[in-house]
Order: sequence, then C-alpha cells, then structure tokens
Amino acid sequence: MAEKIFLVRTGDMSDGSMRQVCLADKKSELAVFRVKGEFYVTDDLCTHGMVALTGGDLEGTTVYCPLHGGAFDVCTGRATEKPCTTPLKTYQVVMEAEDVYCMYDD
Ligand code: FES
Repeated sequence: MAEKIFLVRTGDMSDGSMRQVCLADKKSELAVFRVKGEFYVTDDLCTHGMVALTGGDLEGTTVYCPLHGGAFDVCTGRATEKPCTTPLKTYQVVMEAEDVYCMYDD
C-alpha cells in the first residue's frame, strides 16, 4: 500500500534543479526534480548501474546519468538515451500548500 512521504518544501528547490532525498527505513533514495514549476519524483538509482542520477545533469525534463551518459524523462521515467533501456520508477506527487510529498510504494 502506498504511503505519503514528505520530500521537500517548494522554496527549497529552484526551477531546473534536482535533489536526492534519503528515506529512513526505505530501500532506495528518491530523486526530486523541479521543472517549469512542476515537481517530479523518481528513483534516484540509474537502471543501468549503481549510480545516483542526481549526480548527473538535468536538461529540461531529461536527466543524464553521470556514469555512461544514459538518460531518462523524469516525467514518465522512460529511458531516452542508451545504454539505459529499463524505465525509471516514478512516484505520484502530492502538493499540499508549500509541501511536496510523494506516494511511495516499494
Ligand atoms: Fe547510468 Fe550506465 S550507470 S548509464
């Protein structure tokens, strides 16, 4: 069952930025992206290897992996550049006033 988890406050992230959020007692870290005022949440771990995508580059809605340059669309999780072929898991975002949450299920 999905659990609502607090991630950031809207003022904590500028547009075009990304941030890793570590969850206590969870298996993985999440990546929060702010693009054109919208927030998106995915797993932070690249599906091609063991590296955090938030260590890479964000261009528009595309995040580029720092290790081999693969890429994902942060809105859908779709792999858009090889060597990445497996989609990234995405999470439903919930906005409440200035707070950003996601519905987390593992
Ligand atoms: Fe991310 Fe290879 S580990 S593209």
